[in-house]
This record gives sequence, C-alpha cells and structure tokens, in this order.
Amino acid sequence: MGLDDLLKGVQTVAIICNQWGDTGKGKFSDYFASQWADVTARGTGGNNAGHTVVINRKEKIFHLIPTGITNDPNGKFTVLGNGMAIDLSVLSHELDELDADGITYNNLLISKDAHVIMPYHINRDKAKHQSQKKGGIGSTGRGIGPCYTDKIARRGIVIEDLFDRDRLSRKINEIRREYSEQKIYCDEIIDLLVPFAERIKYFVRDTVSEMHRFIKDGKKILLEGAQGLLLSIEHGTYPYVTSSDCSLNGTASGVGLSAKLIDLPLGIVKFPFMTRVGAGPFPTELGGRNSESYCAEEGHIKLDELKEYGIPHQTTEGGFRYNRNDPKIVDMVNSEDEFIQGIGIRLAAEEYGSTTGRPRRTGWTDGVAAKYSVGINGTHLVLTKPDSLSGAKEFKIAYSYKKGSKITDTFSRSEEFLRNVTPQYQSYQGYGDIKGVRSYNQLPSNLRQAISDFESFTGGNVVVVSVGSDREETVVR
Ligand code: IMP
Repeated sequence: MGLDDLLKGVQTVAIICNQWGDTGKGKFSDYFASQWADVTARGTGGNNAGHTVVINRKEKIFHLIPTGITNDPNGKFTVLGNGMAIDLSVLSHELDELDADGITYNNLLISKDAHVIMPYHINRDKAKHQSQKKGGIGSTGRGIGPCYTDKIARRGIVIEDLFDRDRLSRKINEIRREYSEQKIYCDEIIDLLVPFAERIKYFVRDTVSEMHRFIKDGKKILLEGAQGLLLSIEHGTYPYVTSSDCSLNGTASGVGLSAKLIDLPLGIVKFPFMTRVGAGPFPTELGGRNSESYCAEEGHIKLDELKEYGIPHQTTEGGFRYNRNDPKIVDMVNSEDEFIQGIGIRLAAEEYGSTTGRPRRTGWTDGVAAKYSVGINGTHLVLTKPDSLSGAKEFKIAYSYKKGSKITDTFSRSEEFLRNVTPQYQSYQGYGDIKGVRSYNQLPSNLRQAISDFESFTGGNVVVVSVGSDREETVVR
C-alpha cells in the first residue's frame, strides 16, 4: 500500500503533531501538498515554527508560508489562515526567497483577520525574561505570546487594519498604554509596516469564505498543523505552551473550518523516543532535570556536542555533516548513564531546533501523553523516526506513571503532577536498520509488538510508519 491509498475518497487531511512539536510533519505535508492537495492551509502560530522547503534542490527554512507554495505555478492555493500571527518582515523575506528562485505565488491567500506581530511584541517577548536560562518558558522570542495576548484582550492589529492608516494609528495609540516599558512612535511603526502591507495587499482576502468555497467546489484540502498538541494553549502543559491552539480543532478553526469536516486527521508521534524544546515538564526525559537545564544553557548546539563527544564531522554549506550511526554515538545511545543516553539519542536522530538551533531534550515515547492526544486529535497515527534508534540494544515506552504509592495511566496537564511522576516503562529489545523496509510485516517483530501494545493502550490506529526522511522511506499499513 502507498500513501495514495490512504487518500481514497478523502477531501480534507490535517497533519498535526501529537507531542511537543518537531515530529516530522514536514515530510508528510510536503508529500500531500505536492502529490495530492489543491489547497494547503495553515491556521495557527507564526514564525516560531520552521520547516524545510526544497526549491530547485536547495533547502530553505520557511517559518510562515506552508511547503505547498512550491506548487503555486501548477495553480494550487496556499492559505495563511485567520488563526495565524504574522510577522510581515518574515513574510516579506520568504516572498523574496521565492522571487529569487523564480517560484510564483499568484495563488497565495492571506487572511484579512490574521493578527500582525508588531515590533513592540517582539521587544516584549525578548525582554520579558522568557529566556529559559532565566527560568522562563524558553519562548522562541518571536513576539508570538504578546501578539496573541493583544488578540485575546481584543486590541490586536489585524492584517485588514494595515490598509486604513487612521484606524491603524488610533489602535496603536491606544495600545501604547499597555507597553509603557517601551517608547512606541506610532508614525515610525506605520512607516515601517506600510511597504510590507502594500506588498501583500493583492493576496489579502476573506480566507474563511474562500475555504468554504474550496470545500463546496470539492477541492482537496491539506491543513498543515504547527507545533504540537502538548504545546497547545488549550490542551498543552500550561503554562509551558505556545499561545495558539495547535490541536486538530484549533488548526481547523484557524482556517475557518469545523474539525468535523476533516476526513483524515493524521496525528504524528515520534516513536520510540520523543523530544521537547524549551522549558516545562517532560516526565520521560532522559537525564531528567539535569537534561532540562543543560539544554537551556548556551554552548550545546550541534557543533558543540559533536566536538565535546569526539564525533568526526565535516562543515558543509548548510551546517555540519556527520555519521549518525558513528560507533561513538551508538555507544552513547546504549549508555547506562541516562543523561549521556539522551545526548546520544539527540545525536543519532539529529534533534536540534530548525528555528533556534537549540538542542532538543530527548526521552522515551510517553504512551500516557499519547493516549491523551488521541482523545483530542483522533485515532489515526503516523509514527516517525524509529529508524534513528536502530543502534539501540533496548528501547522503552511508558504506559503509566507512579506518583507516591499510586499508579495512574491518565495524563494531567498540571506541572505539579507531571514533575512528580515516575514513568513506568515496558522495555523491548532493539532492532537493526529498518530504512529499507517498505511493508509493515517486514518491520522487526519487537518493533511491531511495541506498536501493537501502543495501539491497544492509546486507542490509536497506526496507519503509517516513517522509516527515513526520504519520501520513499515510508511504510503504509
Ligand atoms: P513561543 O511559541 O515562541 O511563545 O514559545 C513557547 C514554547 O513553545 C517554548 O517552549 C518553545 O520552545 C515552544 N515552541 C514554539 N514553537 C515551537 C515549534 O515549532 N517546535 C517546538 N517547540 C516550539
């Protein structure tokens, strides 16, 4: 079976993450956008996210425009939805990148109702001690939180405001009071924004009506999620979350659709390890609080770790290349010391942030959290990155937590709870290289056993297992 078989009779697909982001949504969004969808739409977040777009064989990291944009010349639509927070200079930079590579974007639609990230939002996000090492939540510093704060407080600037200078000026003057720690010069800000606004004016629409028209016309629609359920303002590990609802519901509502209209919601789950960037509880983290504070310190980006652990590497145009199966890395993955094991998994799976370059915290896949995610995002699951752990002698999945003398298999968002539980694991024997596997029954039996246990426990239904970053390296059940 191929990915196409999954899509029979389907009009709408959503690709959403069931963990703390960075689960590899991009591979599937890219595939569905290029091979299947007429419309690719994004409904939440802003340039706190990052995904790689391959244009003319060059890899570029985009933060706002969905991957589907490269199919614009074929008449496909790309939508930035009402639920997004848009930094106009970042958007403009992404348009420059497309121009430079001769990719047209005539069918780009930008919601008139999306919120605008203003310079004072970025200043506040950076200054508000949200940096992880100062004990904050470790935000990406892109102004996302303050922008959504203004949205909820009903004073935010939306894209439509950019085209009415008087209204914009009045609103900024009112908002100024809320930002008394900053000197806000209204005319200066407007002069900065106007050229960007003029540049995007042609693309600005009532995208909600457009989406309804697309549905009515039978267009095939792909919703590209951002971040992950455990980072959702509504369902995530509050307050260590982002400021939008990146669940299936939020993703659909962020483009003006009911989640009921999504025929195939695909919840992406990294398996059998998972990651988290930024601060906040992570019960299955290898190395526990030590790993959390280590990852928050400066000096542990990819190059630092390669040097520190003596992993041979070469400098390339796009960064650093190394053999992820280097024997030293495999030894670390199998270390008795969980802190080292966590770093080994990070190196083996190359888990460094695409937006900030930060090391991602690593731990075993948490079935308890996954069951919670299935309850909200639906039962269809896609497992990613099991190939990264092909050198591990053993792997583990958590199916319950112990708190005091009590055992529970129910997730709770509360920090107090999550910081004080000890995950209870089921161990499985490791497996070898699986990159060449293309049919489910050829996956190693211990991995299949773990998947089957995971399904029974979470109530999920694993429809795809990704065994590598290339499109072909995919097993559809
Ligand atoms: P913010 O979205 O910049 O406010 O950051 C809030 C929290 O969400 C921080 O812990 C970030 O590290 C995390 N976060 C935001 N965007 C992403 C993402 O795309 N992947 C993973 N974590 C993210």
